[in-house]
Amino acid sequence: MKAMLCKAWGGPDDLVFEETDDPKAGKGEVVIDIHASGVNFPDILLIGGKYQFKPDFPFSPGMEVGGIVSEVGEGVTAVKPGDRVMAMTMTGGGFAEKCVTPERKVFKLPDGVSFEQAAGFPVTYGTTYHALKDRAELKAGEVLLVHGASGGVGLNAVELGKLMGATVIGTVGSDAKMDIVRQYGADHVFNYSDKSIRETVKELTGGQGADVIYDPVGGDAFDESLRCINWGGRLLVVGFASGRIPEAKANLVLLKQCQIVGVFWGAWTEKFPDGCRAQFDELLGWCAEGKINPHISMRFPLADSPEALKALAARKATGKVIVNVR
Ligand SMILES: NC(=O)c1ccc[n+]([C@@H]2O[C@H](COP(=O)([O-])OP(=O)(O)OC[C@H]3O[C@@H](n4cnc5c(N)ncnc54)[C@H](OP(=O)(O)O)[C@@H]3O)[C@@H](O)[C@H]2O)c1
Repeated sequence: MKAMLCKAWGGPDDLVFEETDDPKAGKGEVVIDIHASGVNFPDILLIGGKYQFKPDFPFSPGMEVGGIVSEVGEGVTAVKPGDRVMAMTMTGGGFAEKCVTPERKVFKLPDGVSFEQAAGFPVTYGTTYHALKDRAELKAGEVLLVHGASGGVGLNAVELGKLMGATVIGTVGSDAKMDIVRQYGADHVFNYSDKSIRETVKELTGGQGADVIYDPVGGDAFDESLRCINWGGRLLVVGFASGRIPEAKANLVLLKQCQIVGVFWGAWTEKFPDGCRAQFDELLGWCAEGKINPHISMRFPLADSPEALKALAARKATGKVIVNVR
């Protein structure tokens, strides 16, 4: 098969497109003919050797795919060859014509969910639903502030936040990204590169601040968040796309009696595979019913997948970037 391979830590331009052996299904594993693969910010960290997992070389990036099961290993019962599926390949493998992954990370697609939708689904919707539902316990009527609201996880937070009954405020880094955030239901959107986060959120909430803050950006966005969080609020630490891991001032946490809440979805799926499956059943059901729909702003063929990573790193994309394999 053809695959985009990482053979040494580096950037997108260091990846190599070449022929490699087809994967085989071991005990409890599933081989998938990939139709589409989702691109995520962690892919950039993965190929740079800066992610929580460091796969052995050579490996291909790509943590989520949509495709058709081509082979199942001993003991697999959940899916069979020919099934349309969505799958997670958390330590990479998605920028290729085929991948192999454990059965517990493979989910049958309901009718009406396309391979592209499936490819742009598990990492961002999975992370965001777990964060809002289990970690923040977001309630209807609360104010949800979403940083990087036009990005992969950010746009899902806007969409799911509205579905859960919150009032949603989105922040973006350029005016051009505001429209898509409004289209996904945000009540308010502002550009955090030219407006103060703390002042704007206080203005929009009558001085109260946000009850739940979803932060995949870190850096200044995190620092400012602790200044505009409501009494008893929950600040979700999702990621550090800005490049700076912030440090929290403990006096602010005390004064607002707020919580800083970590979100490590990939590890949660390993510890609680049944909980993960139950959430995907619900989310995929909503997608089939048209209640949620990943926004795909860019598509690249497999041979050009380094360009997909570069577009994400350069903050050019909104929602999801997809690599079309077939
Ligand atoms: N905790 C978890 O379990 C988990 C799971 C998945 C992802 N993540 C993390 O969540 C973050 C976002 O992932 P994603 O796949 O949604 O990425 P994405 O689509 O690239 O979105 C990231 C957003 O961050 C904003 N941003 C601000 N400064 C940036 C910079 N210097 N470079 C790039 N983007 C910048 C961008 O919005 P503006 O241009 O509008 O500012 C962009 O839309 C990453 O840190 C990722 O590692 C965490």
